[in-house]
Amino acid sequence: MKILVTGASGNVGRYVIEELLSMGEQVVGAGQDIQKIKDIFKDTIDAVHFDFTNKGTFHQALENVDRVFLMRPPHLGKPEDLYPFIDAMKSHKIKLISFLSLMGVETNPIPPHHKIEKYIEAAGIPYAHIRPGFFMQNVSGVHSVEIREKNQVFVPAGNSKTSFIDAADIGLSTAILLHEPNKYRNTAHTITGPEALNYDQVAEILSKVTGRQITYAKPGYLKYRRHYIKDRGLEKGYVNVTVALYFMTRMGTAKEVTDDFVKLTGRHPRSFEEFARANVNSFI
Ligand SMILES: NC(=O)c1ccc[n+]([C@@H]2O[C@H](COP(=O)([O-])OP(=O)(O)OC[C@H]3O[C@@H](n4cnc5c(N)ncnc54)[C@H](OP(=O)(O)O)[C@@H]3O)[C@@H](O)[C@H]2O)c1
Repeated sequence: MKILVTGASGNVGRYVIEELLSMGEQVVGAGQDIQKIKDIFKDTIDAVHFDFTNKGTFHQALENVDRVFLMRPPHLGKPEDLYPFIDAMKSHKIKLISFLSLMGVETNPIPPHHKIEKYIEAAGIPYAHIRPGFFMQNVSGVHSVEIREKNQVFVPAGNSKTSFIDAADIGLSTAILLHEPNKYRNTAHTITGPEALNYDQVAEILSKVTGRQITYAKPGYLKYRRHYIKDRGLEKGYVNVTVALYFMTRMGTAKEVTDDFVKLTGRHPRSFEEFARANVNSFI
């Protein structure tokens, strides 16, 4: 039987697939843009057209599948957006859903992940929730523009700390859960990087790695929101969600450091400095 990976072309999905393939698993990569998936994985996996908002795509995606990596595309802000697909999985013999959740949602009902976890559990399908901290890829991705163009880290996180994790480490952890569904049945794993950094420390590491003076601009929420919507042209709904996440970060929800990654993988998670060196091209 195969493992369905939703968000196959996304930050985490692509690493989940790489790791599953190296474990000898058969994978179906799902997304709206099949060509994107084929371009990344060539013929090493099957690719299926899949849309959370179109029930007509569910049956084919679940054919010959007994485990699922489930992620919520960031622009689908309501937990209810994922419910029809979770309902559809009930009539297939699914041994494990590994849902890409978020650190701290077990006690924080605001992010959509909280309700999605509860909905999966209530559906009676075996689960292994993966609850990562903030991705290092946020810095090398959406926030790299200001780093390259203005030598500034431009996020409204105040003086808070974040235990950044590399999406590749999330991919490895998730693949381990899906590879041994009985062992990890009905479990949850909070995985983080090895240390919690504030954004002055992030800027310091980026300065060291790039050889340029990069500073933390420490904008307020309104300045950040205006810049990302007006100057960067990003979708309002997406920017609002990030404002809420940085608000929570300031409340201290992103700073916990756990050893779940070491327990799962037997390895140490990548540090932000190692990540920045390996991805220096994103910052120059
Ligand atoms: N960034 C963080 O720090 C962080 C931390 C913890 C948790 N998370 C959670 O991680 C998730 C995002 O994961 P990611 O960064 O790997 O995603 P991503 O890189 O933003 O990729 C989104 C994926 O979703 C697919 N997609 C978009 N719309 C879809 C639809 N309607 N139906 C089916 N697939 C669709 C896209 O492919 P197509 O365009 O081909 O469909 C793409 O593969 C979010 O739920 C976020 O809350 C993020």
